[in-house]
Amino acid sequence: MELKEFKGEFFNRYGPGKAIMFFSPGRVNLIGEHTDYNGGLVLPCALSSGTYLIIRKTDADLVKFRTVNFDDKNEIPLADLDKKLDGGVWINYPLGVIAGFKKRGVSFAGMDLLFMGNIPIGAGLSSSASLELVSSVAVNELYSVGLDMVEMVKLSHTAENEFVGVNCGIMDQFAVGMGKKDHAIALDCNTLNFEHIPVEINGYKLVIGDTKKRRGLAGSKYNERRAECDKAVELLCQKKGIRYLCELDMETFREIRNLIPEGVVRKRVRHVISEHGRVLQAVKELKAGNAEAFGKLMNESHDSLRDDYEVTGFELDTMVEEARKVEGVLGARMTGAGFGGCTVSLVKEENIDIFYEQMGKAYKEKTGITPEFYIADIGDGTRKLEEITG
Ligand code: GLA
Repeated sequence: MELKEFKGEFFNRYGPGKAIMFFSPGRVNLIGEHTDYNGGLVLPCALSSGTYLIIRKTDADLVKFRTVNFDDKNEIPLADLDKKLDGGVWINYPLGVIAGFKKRGVSFAGMDLLFMGNIPIGAGLSSSASLELVSSVAVNELYSVGLDMVEMVKLSHTAENEFVGVNCGIMDQFAVGMGKKDHAIALDCNTLNFEHIPVEINGYKLVIGDTKKRRGLAGSKYNERRAECDKAVELLCQKKGIRYLCELDMETFREIRNLIPEGVVRKRVRHVISEHGRVLQAVKELKAGNAEAFGKLMNESHDSLRDDYEVTGFELDTMVEEARKVEGVLGARMTGAGFGGCTVSLVKEENIDIFYEQMGKAYKEKTGITPEFYIADIGDGTRKLEEITG
């Protein structure tokens, strides 16, 4: 749906008047997977697609949630604004944010909300963080709360952890809120220190490939990996006082790894520490414009996620394998939590059409699924767009 039509829909559904429109991007992570909750580095970028929200205050004692994406609506009494809805309902993301503001003392009036998303849900491009941040920035503006973006990133992250109940790290919310056009964000998830780095890889583009395999088991497997990492920290603490795995370098880990009896858990740690090192290196290569070296690190990242962290799966591995066979591809890896979702590849500009054709065909032959591709268009973080009347 075009924006003009979307604005019209708001007034059709809720009646005439004034409202404000906001936008929040999705994100793609270039490298640094499963390092965020281990206190490590990540390198995501915000996308130019994401979630739009039109919102206004009303005199009713209800908050109305609707979306143009599917036939779903909910009206929640003001008194119930901090109660989670049953089932995996999308409204819990904005609701979790509202509950967070309520906890900070914001007293809510009735509201009309209409959402429109143009990133695929469950594809690993952070549609949920996008929903959270667009809601945060809208509430912050509507009620003049005065939080800065990092505070809203934290509030949204807490909403996802505590209200929605997904124990994710802070990467997605940070990337979505703090994104900058044509830049990646080198973020230290322990200190939240960050740097915007221009993504200018001469002659190459980042191409996102959607495997169309949705992340069925993501929740439980994700939490399982987190638990394995927590267990490893606990065991390693017998010899080395650490809070996070990423505080260790590989050499130190090798010296004390026998404290971890389970081979599988040792592999998980090896992924986390090696991935953190790859992000450090990738930041240097990106700054120097070394496309080949950057691509090689992307490949190593995927292989480590496949063999040591074991979060890839048939579809992601097939897509990455086929991508690497195409001429002009310097690197390919899964992005996001894994178990399905998207890949990201570094492709020579003049080979992009061949990439779509050759890789798309091979992937379809092996999986029976028709994939989708997008060139990663790196955009700005969550923001107010305009005040509208209708
Ligand atoms: C999901 C989580 C993030 C991060 C990635 C893996 O996207 O929401 O916090 O852990 O997986 O890197």
